[in-house]
Amino acid sequence: MNGEFEFLKKIIVEKIGFYPDRYKRRPLKRRIAVRMRYNKVNSYLEYAKILEKDKNEQRFLHKTLTINVSKFFRNFETFRKIEEEVLPQLLLEYEKKGKILKVWCAGCATGEECYTIGMLMDRFLRGRQPSVPFIIIGTDIDNDSLDIAEVGCYRNNVLDETPEYYLKTYFLKNERFCVSDRIKEKVRFIKLDIEQENVELKELDLVLFRNVLIYMEKSFQKKILLMIHNRLKDEAFLVLGKVETLIGDTKSLFNIVDSRERIFSKCQILKR
Ligand SMILES: C[S@@+](CC[C@H](N)C(=O)[O-])C[C@H]1O[C@@H](n2cnc3c(N)ncnc32)[C@H](O)[C@@H]1O
Repeated sequence: MNGEFEFLKKIIVEKIGFYPDRYKRRPLKRRIAVRMRYNKVNSYLEYAKILEKDKNEQRFLHKTLTINVSKFFRNFETFRKIEEEVLPQLLLEYEKKGKILKVWCAGCATGEECYTIGMLMDRFLRGRQPSVPFIIIGTDIDNDSLDIAEVGCYRNNVLDETPEYYLKTYFLKNERFCVSDRIKEKVRFIKLDIEQENVELKELDLVLFRNVLIYMEKSFQKKILLMIHNRLKDEAFLVLGKVETLIGDTKSLFNIVDSRERIFSKCQILKR
């Protein structure tokens, strides 16, 4: 049984480029079981053999393993706090250094989070210094989600937390709600595993890393949080999901800005 599961994991890595060992074991097995039931097989070995050959099944399993749900202004209060606590600091940072403000949405799924922060920043800066340049980079491992993100048109089920002002100002409504070009041109999407290097992802001012960490194994969580710390500018911020938190040594990498909304600022590590 264990050997069979190890073999299945190997096929998953080879065929869909997803690394099962980075994720929490029990939920991972639950999701694989969903696909096994669908394919009417009882053993990991049988399922591995299907997966090895069937490209559609590879795609379905990838979809099942990467949970891609998102929405605009998800946990509205978090974005209210970002506006209150983070954006004024980013503006000060720009005034001091004059460098483009860079935001990374790591694990951005279908793009709602990237566009939300774009709208929030646009509105905030419009009332203060509209000429401040900023860019938002959204990354994810799921191609299908990124295709949706690129198009930027959504049904209203992902807009129920969006305030009227934003709906009116930043969307064009046809059959769906499409994000306006003003915001779309600030956002770039890249297919990227969170662990991969990318030249764009350094000197960041703000990282939104929400509802991704929760699925990861503790050792991988620590590794990624350290990596994010290294990619942030000195005076920069990290936002986690509502039920996520820093663990172990990673607590010493960040200061708490708002514990309820999981907003942190980078802490300098003293070099000896
Ligand atoms: C639940 S969604 C979170 C979406 C958004 N951040 C939010 O909070 O609404 C989790 C996303 O993380 C992505 N993900 C999981 N593991 C990843 C990895 N190793 N590298 C990049 N993205 C990953 C999944 O593909 C999925 O789209």
